[in-house]
Amino acid sequence: MKAPLVNQTSSASKALIEAAKTIRPNAYAPYSKFQVGAALRSESGKIYSGVNVENVAYPEGTCAEAGAIAAMIAAGDQEIKEIAVIADSPSPVPPCGGCRQKIREFAKDDVTVIMTTTSGKEQSILVGQLLPGAFTLDHMES
Ligand code: THU
Repeated sequence: MKAPLVNQTSSASKALIEAAKTIRPNAYAPYSKFQVGAALRSESGKIYSGVNVENVAYPEGTCAEAGAIAAMIAAGDQEIKEIAVIADSPSPVPPCGGCRQKIREFAKDDVTVIMTTTSGKEQSILVGQLLPGAFTLDHMES
């Protein structure tokens, strides 16, 4: 996937990538064998991470991003300031369509999504670029 590069070299970003990398081996992915780790930093500065959790009933599986978001909400934070995703992939792994909407629920359009690979490839993109024209609360106003 081609995406515009944005700044991604801060130490805060590196800590996020490291957190995603550290938790990735805990992923439960016996069916796809594709382990994904995600980590996000919330408005409080805390880092929350998650992994994909698959299920023998395939559609019941959940993505790493969803796990990180659930951890953030359970801890009482509600705003994503930056998020990183990592997997063993030939190119930086982007959040799936459903996760883009999940991320957008708690992140503004200018929040950076860092997409990385276990081999060290990194690419960053903004939430607004990943999900342009997102369905938001505004659309439900009469
Ligand atoms: N997956 C994630 O966890 N996050 C993504 O952004 C892409 C896909 C998971 C879902 C499934 O367990 C596996 O990767 C293969 O699709």
